[in-house]
Amino acid sequence: MIELSPNYNQPLLDDTYLPPVTIRLMRVEDIEHVSRLERRCYTLPWSSSAYVTEVGNPSAYYTVAVLADGTLAGYAGMWVNMDEAHLTTIAVDPVHRGLKIGERLLLDLLEESMRRGANHASLEVRERNLVARSLYFKYGFDDVAVRKNYYSDNGENALIMWANEIRSPAYLDMLDDYRARLA
Ligand SMILES: CC(C)(COP(=O)(O)OP(=O)(O)OC[C@H]1O[C@@H](n2cnc3c(N)ncnc32)[C@H](O)[C@@H]1OP(=O)(O)O)[C@@H](O)C(=O)NCCC(=O)NCCS
Repeated sequence: MIELSPNYNQPLLDDTYLPPVTIRLMRVEDIEHVSRLERRCYTLPWSSSAYVTEVGNPSAYYTVAVLADGTLAGYAGMWVNMDEAHLTTIAVDPVHRGLKIGERLLLDLLEESMRRGANHASLEVRERNLVARSLYFKYGFDDVAVRKNYYSDNGENALIMWANEIRSPAYLDMLDDYRARLA
């Protein structure tokens, strides 16, 4: 059963300006920039060689969000295995946050995961990362487990979040609605 989040149906503010963003596959030549962003966005950044591996992994899907002037403003990725998508990262350059770029990256991951046959999506998030948790909650992810002291830098807990039945009519309707609001 899909539980829609409480903020579902809240309209965007009328004056919200959403800059046009192109979401395309990450390329090897993007990785230097992605790694720079990674170090600004995460306290335990992945190495650039990890991204090189991911870009060549057929079970993986890594994207970048590019602004109209060519600026790489964010990136995201996941693995899809059987009917499960596991979201590994979503990050937006701090100077471009709050402009629905993270949301557009997440929506694209969910759409691609369905094209690849996923019916569920999972992820790990820091317990104190309320911004990311709010984004995931908006898209139907629920907390299902806690990994105590998971992160090596500060001992913070990881929450495991799942969105189930992402191909159900209720979930697809929600995505349609959010997609229309982001257009
Ligand atoms: C999480 C992250 C990707 C969000 O990107 P963003 O482009 O700034 O977010 P968006 O503008 O798309 O906002 C989408 C939703 O995120 C949540 N959100 C965004 N900014 C928020 C804030 N300041 N406070 C609370 N919730 C917030 C809201 O649910 C928002 O939906 P709403 O506007 O309908 O309320 C970004 O903060 C980031 O890169 N963080 C560092 C990396 C990270 O922690 N990634 C997640 C790892 S699990």
